[in-house]
Amino acid sequence: MKGGGLPPSAPPRHVAVIMDGNGRWARQRGLPRVEGHRMGIRSVRAVVECAREIGISYLTLYAFSTENWGRPRTEVTTLMGLLREFLIRELPDLNKHGIRLRVIGETGRLPSHVRGVLDHAVEATGRNSSMTLTLALSYAGRNEIVRAARKLAAAAAAGKILPESITDEDVAGSLDTAGIPDPDLVIRTSGEIRVSNFLLWQAAYAEFVFTDVLWPDFGKPEFLAALEEYAHRDRRFGLAGEQGTLSPGDP
Ligand code: IPE
Ligand code: IPE
Ligand code: MG
Repeated sequence: MKGGGLPPSAPPRHVAVIMDGNGRWARQRGLPRVEGHRMGIRSVRAVVECAREIGISYLTLYAFSTENWGRPRTEVTTLMGLLREFLIRELPDLNKHGIRLRVIGETGRLPSHVRGVLDHAVEATGRNSSMTLTLALSYAGRNEIVRAARKLAAAAAAGKILPESITDEDVAGSLDTAGIPDPDLVIRTSGEIRVSNFLLWQAAYAEFVFTDVLWPDFGKPEFLAALEEYAHRDRRFGLAGEQGTLSPGDP
């Protein structure tokens, strides 16, 4: 961090969150893990509301990873049920506040009773423009890159593109996040300091904030504290960083 009164980083345009620690929150209280997931939904609502109020344009939440399919069946089933309930319950508020819903991940693996409400919510909020809320569901960064590679390989095999002319932009545009700017800030709760297959390509120059707070205890004050920490970071993007406010493409 620099002294000397340099301006703090601009507010992040895109914040992504690895919402972790629901199970431990429940265990600490002698409750079943699913109670942690249930309480975690309160945190989702608080963070979405706070992000919208602050004027963050893109909020991405890691809700269920490809690897999470390997959890006990009852936990997976309950999570899917909670997700469906959440989508049904929140849809009016998403529309009221102009929030557009997007999904990244292998959504084809989700049970049809979830996919139905998900597709409906994405469609029903498609013209909203105050904030884009992206849910990462059945998501893994490596899997996303593999699927992008397949698309590009198929286009090359069909003679539509030349392998040697594939660019960063082509790869980015073949990912589930096509059209969404890269995250400026990635927050992970629960004290784990790892990326767990989240936005591997997109987070190339993201700032990371790790907090010990478990997700069900994470609310507006904790979100604001993470933004404050971000504001003091000196982003350089590989450049010399003399100005303290560089962004990619700056001379
Ligand atoms: C995060 O909490 C929610 C999901 C991964 C679905 P966890 O369920 O991973 O909680 P911990 O990490 O076991 O405490
Ligand atoms: C990451 O949390 C995935 C989500 C928050 C949805 P995990 O709890 O699944 O990750 P690990 O197992 O601690 O790496
Ligand atoms: Mg976890």
